[in-house]
Amino acid sequence: MKAKLHSQLQAQIKKLDSISAAPAILTPLLNMLRLPSDKIRVEKVVELVSYDGSIAAQCLRLANSPLFGCREIETVRSAVMALGLERVRSILFGLYVNRVIPQDKWVIDPDAFWRHSLGCALVTQRMAQKIEYPEPEKAYMAGLLHDLGFLVNSVLYNEDFRECLRRAAEQHVPLHVIEEQVLGFTHCESGQMLCEHWGLSKELVDAARCHHDVSLLPTAGPLACLVHLSDLLCRARYLGYGYDEIMGVDLGSDAAWQTLVTTFPALGNMDLVRFTLDIDGAMDKIVATVDSVFGVKKIAALATT
Ligand SMILES: [Fe+2]
Ligand SMILES: [Fe+2]
Repeated sequence: MKAKLHSQLQAQIKKLDSISAAPAILTPLLNMLRLPSDKIRVEKVVELVSYDGSIAAQCLRLANSPLFGCREIETVRSAVMALGLERVRSILFGLYVNRVIPQDKWVIDPDAFWRHSLGCALVTQRMAQKIEYPEPEKAYMAGLLHDLGFLVNSVLYNEDFRECLRRAAEQHVPLHVIEEQVLGFTHCESGQMLCEHWGLSKELVDAARCHHDVSLLPTAGPLACLVHLSDLLCRARYLGYGYDEIMGVDLGSDAAWQTLVTTFPALGNMDLVRFTLDIDGAMDKIVATVDSVFGVKKIAALATT
């Protein structure tokens, strides 16, 4: 039953590209996003970013936000240098997805979706730095993309997914629980397939697939564990999907935390209370940054000016 659903879903995802009328600039962008960072030319990035007013504005806004400690950055070139390639790629990716989803197909409030995604990206990166994970920028990307499956479900299963959100909000339960009941699969599975379809790395695919249940991986990778924890923290701190969830978060007994403790010696010197207090301390800044950077209404306003 599940296998049949999966193959139907896979076939639908292959058709997604033709459903959406993406602006011409997005094809070279997507091609660039597939390249490893060391193959990307900074000049090309500056050129692509400069070509699109709303993308340039996003980069400038983020580079000038308090979170990055930068001030008075006025050119695309200096914004790209300040942010770093991975973060710019994330912004481009976010905007790509934002435009590919037809306006009338959004089920989750787009504002809430991007707040949650960027919030998770920033928290995942922060955690990655704290445990001395060697690629914090990759952690940022994994956090940003972990819930792409919601967009797949919005486009391909619009009415049923609306019903999922309605029931989840009414019962105050996590959306993936209701997805399983109504659709027979969750955004983790559709997100995994979209990430595979777009040729993203295995770690990013795994993070999308396992972020609500790290036990799905025989040995859970650190990225999936980090995204799982940051997703929980964001949802517990008003960066969820626009409705209240009743959730008891006990990170100490969480399998993802246990996995990280055994994998990263830096965590051995840090207790959980201190760790979460530090993340909480960063949360206000993160929420302010999310508000200033990824307000979808602001993006729409910029795109029409
Ligand atoms: Fe999720
Ligand atoms: Fe999430």
